[in-house]
Amino acid sequence: MLKIKKIAIFASGAGSNAENIIKYFENSSIAKVKMVFCNVPNAYVVTRASGLGVPVMIFSRDEFYNSNKVINNLLAEEIDLIVLAGFLWLIPENIIQLFDNKIINIHPALLPSYGGKGMFGENVHKAVIADGKKESGITIHYVNEKYDDGDIIFQAKCEVTAADTPATLAQKIHALEYDFFPKIIESVLINLS
Ligand code: GRF
Repeated sequence: MLKIKKIAIFASGAGSNAENIIKYFENSSIAKVKMVFCNVPNAYVVTRASGLGVPVMIFSRDEFYNSNKVINNLLAEEIDLIVLAGFLWLIPENIIQLFDNKIINIHPALLPSYGGKGMFGENVHKAVIADGKKESGITIHYVNEKYDDGDIIFQAKCEVTAADTPATLAQKIHALEYDFFPKIIESVLINLS
């Protein structure tokens, strides 16, 4: 029997991807979401994760960058893969080094376009529409010390029409995220050394 891999999700916001991933792996023999890490105490992801029986660890900026609280928890829980799902802070160097090629992020656009600091949530979709782009999509990539910069694992595209608003484009992007993110996480886990 292979050991079930342990996932930690980092999220700062609504957490619809976190919920989708938790549910996808609920009865999986490959992996399980062990814990959600969140930097925003009143974020809706906290309610969602707790409702699904997944423990949540809240941490402050100071604890994240100037203490071992988060890293110690990751080690204590024997986390195999960190999944960023709408997490808005850069990951500190010591966590990146310890989880080399074991941290992945989802970005709601086709990187390397529309990435980097400030490019999150509606900002991304507004910029894509303002530029008159005919397509957008999702990018799942490894995480390094810069925003939205690590090696790309997977991309999927959707059409952007003249009728799209940031809200309708966000819906299309979320649909792609729900469809593909858990499957890509699963394949990354299967290939983990
Ligand atoms: C997603 O669109 C994801 O691509 C981005 O942040 C959003 C998070 O949405 N990184 P939710 O919190 O999962 O609902």
